[in-house]
Amino acid sequence: MHVGVLTGGGDCPGINAVIRAVTLALLQSGAVSRVTGIERGFLGLLEDGYRPLDVATVRDILDEGGSVLGTHNRADPFAYFAAGGADCSGRALDTVGRLGLDALVAIGGDGTMTIAERFSRLGLPVVGVPKTIDNDIAGNERSFGFDSAVAVVADSLNRLETTARSHGRVMLLETMGREAGWIALEGGLAGGADAILIPERAYHLDDLAAFCQRRVAEQGYALVCLSEGIRDQHSALDVNRYLGTAPSGARLGGVGQVLMQDLQGRFGAALEVRYTLLGHLQRGGAPTAYDRVLSTRFGVEAARMVLRREFGRMVALQADVCTSLALVDVAGRSRSVPLQHELVLAAQDLGLYIG
Ligand code: F6P
Repeated sequence: MHVGVLTGGGDCPGINAVIRAVTLALLQSGAVSRVTGIERGFLGLLEDGYRPLDVATVRDILDEGGSVLGTHNRADPFAYFAAGGADCSGRALDTVGRLGLDALVAIGGDGTMTIAERFSRLGLPVVGVPKTIDNDIAGNERSFGFDSAVAVVADSLNRLETTARSHGRVMLLETMGREAGWIALEGGLAGGADAILIPERAYHLDDLAAFCQRRVAEQGYALVCLSEGIRDQHSALDVNRYLGTAPSGARLGGVGQVLMQDLQGRFGAALEVRYTLLGHLQRGGAPTAYDRVLSTRFGVEAARMVLRREFGRMVALQADVCTSLALVDVAGRSRSVPLQHELVLAAQDLGLYIG
């Protein structure tokens, strides 16, 4: 067999560990003689970007951040940006035929899984591997990259705490996560935040301001960990006010600036607020040991699925066991934080403000 591998959407720590595991497990099986890496996601199938993957090329990439194949988060062959949004899926399938690929492993987030599902319906033998720091892919309880992002958030909160305490300030830290609050929730808990704001639950500005003032009175400072997709109780996503863009599909990032101004307006000169946008620092760098292991498990499982010819499916972690789900059940769906989630309840029991 000849198998193609691509990485679509945003990069995240652990992608290279998946590429390594898929390649090694396929070649090791004896049933696969060639593995080809498609460059920059589906773009490589449209613009002829590919290169061989072998034991030597993947040997040392277990702990390397980013994607050695490059990635792209707008390369949808069904609406190709360089062709004015035209459907160029036929061109991508021609490339698959010309290369002689018997299967394609697509590592990516919800966008990539949706594209993979459409190709699967057109007869392409495809296996999906879920990837996102946001941890929001439907049916998959843990994505690789998430643990690495949470570690950065926790470390950042610890750093903010020492300066917050020294100045007696309210410090805001904004995390990624799009419309899902997983990174802010776990990162906030791991880093000892006083308040955690997630998109799934609207916050109330007056309540939050009063809570921060109480915390400052008690301990001298307050730490707020907020997700980029948050909204207050009275408006749509606050990010609209800052970026002037619609929430869905838009680039997020910056809502903390709005919240800082809102809180500062409530506090006046008595209490200072500062804001840090963590941004892509959460996505770059080496994966944690947990993510290296999870990526390896996902890569090996994807290779097994190819060998068993279980196509049109995505690797998924359920009850900490690697299994798989039909792409059709995953495409176009996402996974948000349930308000009765154990971690939300734990945060409440600890006396944190959860918005
Ligand atoms: O989906 C992963 C993610 O990191 C989101 O948390 C974030 O909103 C987005 O990607 C950022 O994308 P970009 O790299 O295009 O700015």
